[in-house]
Amino acid sequence: MHTANSQLFYPLRGAFYLSSKSGFANFKVSSNIRQMFMGIAIKTTELYLRDRQRRMLCDGLFLQAAPGTLTAIMGPCGCGKSVFLRLLTGYERPTQGRIFFGSSELWANYAHVRDIIGYVPQAEVMIPELLVAESLDYRLRFRFSKRTVEERHQQIRDTCALLGLGNLDSLLAKRVGLPEWRGEYPSGGERRRINIAHEILSQPQVLFMDEPTSGLASIEADALVKHIRELAHHQGIPVVMTIHSPSRDTFECFHDMMVMGMGGVMAYYGKREKAAEYFERTTPIAFQGDNPAEYIMRCVSNEPHAGREAALRLQQSRHRPGFEYLIQPWESAEIAPVLSTEALPQ
Ligand SMILES: Nc1ncnc2c1ncn2[C@@H]1O[C@H](COP(=O)(O)OP(=O)(O)O)[C@@H](O)[C@H]1O
Ligand SMILES: [Mg+2]
Repeated sequence: MHTANSQLFYPLRGAFYLSSKSGFANFKVSSNIRQMFMGIAIKTTELYLRDRQRRMLCDGLFLQAAPGTLTAIMGPCGCGKSVFLRLLTGYERPTQGRIFFGSSELWANYAHVRDIIGYVPQAEVMIPELLVAESLDYRLRFRFSKRTVEERHQQIRDTCALLGLGNLDSLLAKRVGLPEWRGEYPSGGERRRINIAHEILSQPQVLFMDEPTSGLASIEADALVKHIRELAHHQGIPVVMTIHSPSRDTFECFHDMMVMGMGGVMAYYGKREKAAEYFERTTPIAFQGDNPAEYIMRCVSNEPHAGREAALRLQQSRHRPGFEYLIQPWESAEIAPVLSTEALPQ
């Protein structure tokens, strides 16, 4: 969340509830965690971005993420994962292409739409000297200035619980610290969750995370991604995360998987459980029952032009029978009816 204008936030949410047949009531959470917000779908056309030297940074990537799903974006270092997230979150404007959150177009309703986007960049942005509780409360007061102390306290605890943080009394009373500080500070995995909690407190309707598991031990990474998946499901928001080298367990948490190649190209986008099969079918590289994520990374980074070749193969495969699990790009011709039936109040 990037603006603190809650007056704009409520009409937008209200419009969504009115237009939604199921609404809040049918969206019960099985555990004792209260559902706090509800998300909307993200849809883009193919997006393009060039840098000042006219080098392609994003070459036709697109996204279609449904509420309640977890999408992972995988690809070699420097292929443009962070650039793609910055385009989707409105930090950078594409040279070509359109981005929709529900029925609102990002660059046509910038102030409204930016308010519903949660974005956890790779670098943590917490102040190390604050207590965890203070740090979270500061964020909450900034966003929802009218809430009482008790309401804020409850929301902080609910949010921490959503992310699987335990021992809350003791954790909230610790100082945030820095990863290299020794002593009574949150562990690496706790820090990462606390950092994400700051963003979730603002009740985003869509959530993007840039490599939330980098630097974590694989057990911590697996646990974090499981909680992120649960969060997407319970809150009914689309969550999109980039990840560099997921373990097998982490890999299996994703609903949809996008694989990128160097130069901001798309090498695969479809159901996660079909990803390895797709590369087996379309490349000469054999999958030997190892971690599917490692196998896929081998397929897109084994030679200098692997990404571009993979992108061409993907475009051809989409039109062939037997590849229905691939997600098709959204044609801008489909946009007009969507806009006219569900336009948001200005
Ligand atoms: N604002 C920018 N202007 C120009 N080039 C950029 C910019 N941001 C990133 N790049 C370049 O785009 C490519 C992709 O970077 P990035 O998205 O950070 O990769 P990844 O996150 O996949 O490791 C890199 O070559 C990087 O140097
Ligand atoms: Mg990156």
